[in-house]
Amino acid sequence: MSATSKSIHGEWSSRFAFVLAATGSAVGLGNIWKFPYITGENGGGAFVLVYLLCVVLVGLPIMIAEIMLGRRGRQSPVNTMELLAEQAEADPNWHYLGWLGLIAGALILSYYSVIAGWAGSYALKAVTGSFIDADAENIKLLFDGFINNPLQQVFWHSVFMLATMSVVARGVQSGLEKSVKFLMPCLFVLLMLLVAYAMVSGAYQQGLDFLFTPDFSKITGQAVLTAMGHAFFTLSLGMGAVMVYGSYLPRPVSIAKTAVLIAGTDTVVALLAGIAIFPIVFANNLEPGSGPGLIFQTLPIAFGNMTGGYLFGVLFFVMLVFAALTSSISLIEPAVAWLVENKGMTRYQACIWSGFTVWFLGLGTAFSFNIGSQVKLFDRTIFQLFDYLSANLMLPIGGFAIAVFAGWIMKTKDSEDELAMPHAIVYQVWKWVVSYISPAAVFLVFLHAVGVI
Ligand code: TRP
Repeated sequence: MSATSKSIHGEWSSRFAFVLAATGSAVGLGNIWKFPYITGENGGGAFVLVYLLCVVLVGLPIMIAEIMLGRRGRQSPVNTMELLAEQAEADPNWHYLGWLGLIAGALILSYYSVIAGWAGSYALKAVTGSFIDADAENIKLLFDGFINNPLQQVFWHSVFMLATMSVVARGVQSGLEKSVKFLMPCLFVLLMLLVAYAMVSGAYQQGLDFLFTPDFSKITGQAVLTAMGHAFFTLSLGMGAVMVYGSYLPRPVSIAKTAVLIAGTDTVVALLAGIAIFPIVFANNLEPGSGPGLIFQTLPIAFGNMTGGYLFGVLFFVMLVFAALTSSISLIEPAVAWLVENKGMTRYQACIWSGFTVWFLGLGTAFSFNIGSQVKLFDRTIFQLFDYLSANLMLPIGGFAIAVFAGWIMKTKDSEDELAMPHAIVYQVWKWVVSYISPAAVFLVFLHAVGVI
C-alpha cells in the first residue's frame, strides 16, 4: 500500500472533521470526571503542574508521532505497525504495539462505559428534578444509593455500550463525524457557566489555590505516574485511537498544528472543569480526595441551588454523555478496524463481537462499587485495577514505543515527508524531543514510581 492511498474504512471529509473527531476523542470523562478526582486524591497544585509538563513534553510530541504513523500506514494500528516496520526494515514484532493498544482500549472502555452510564443516569435524575434545593448530604445519599445498586449499574452500562457500538457501526463519516459537530461548543459554554457559579458560590479562591499552588511534599512517585498516565489518557494517546483517526486523515493536512489545537483545547477543558468543581467542594466542606464520585457529589449541589439550575443540570449531564460517546467510539475503533481487515468481518459484525467483549469486561467495574467491592487483586477493586493497568502502565508503555519508533526506527525521510512541516527547524525540534525527551521522561517516571530514583 502506498503512502498516498486511502484507508479502506473511509476518510474524514475535511481537516475540520478530523480536528472535531480527535478533539471529541480527547475531551471526555477524562477531563470532567477523572482529572478533578485524581487531582483531589493527589493533593492539587503539584499534581496539576506535573500533568501539564507531561502534556507538553510527552503528550504533544507523541500525539504528532501517533497521528503521523497512522496516516502513513492507513490501516488499523496492528497492521499499520506491521507495514511501517517492514518499510523501515525493522523487526515485525512492532505490530505487538498495535495489540497492546487493542487490549488497553478494551480495558479502558469497559470502565469508561460504566462511568458514562452514571452520567446518563444523572441526566435522567436532573430531568426528574432530583437535585432541586438539595444540599451536600442529600446529594451524597443519592449517589451512594445509585452506585450501591448493581442492576442500575449494569443497565446504564449496557445502554451506553449499545449507543457506542451503534455509532461505530455507521462508519467513519456518517457515524463518527456527525456525532461531534455540535457538542464541543455546547459543552464549553456550560462549563463556563459552572465556572461563573463557582466564582460566586463562596470558596473560589480556595479552589484556585488548591489547583494552582503546588505543594511538592504531597507528591509521591505513584502520583507522578498517575499524572503522566493521565496526560496519555486525556489526550487519547498510546493505544492507537489517535493512530486510527490519523489513518482516516487526508494527506495535505498539517499534523503538528492540528495536534497543538487538540491538546490545547483538551487542557483548557480539564482546567475549566477543575476551576468549576473545587470551589464547590470547599464551599460545602466536601473531601477533595473522595474519589470517582467527586463530580457526581458536587455539581448537582450547584445545579440544585443556582438560578436556571434545572435546565443547566439536564443540559450538562446530557452533554457529558455525548462527550463520553465521542471518546468511547475512539477506544473501540482500532479493534473494529482490525476485525474488518484481518477477520473478514463486516463493520457491523465487528461491532457486535468487540462490543459484547467490552460489555462483559465492564461488568467487573459495574460490580466494583457494590456486590463486588470486596473482590480485590493487588489490593485493588476490578475498576481500580483496570484503570491502573491501562492508564498508568499500558498507555505510557505504548506511548514510549510510539516515540521510539517515530524517533529511532522510522526513516527520517519518511517522517519528514509525512509531517511536511513548513520549517525544517520545527521538524528537528520535534524529532529531538520525540527521540530523547519523551521516552526518557516516561522511563524516569517509571523508575521514580517503583522507587529506584
Ligand atoms: N481521552 C478520553 C477522555 O479524556 C478517553 C479516551 C478516548 C482515551 N480514547 C482514548 C484514553 C484512547 C486513552 C486512549 O475522556
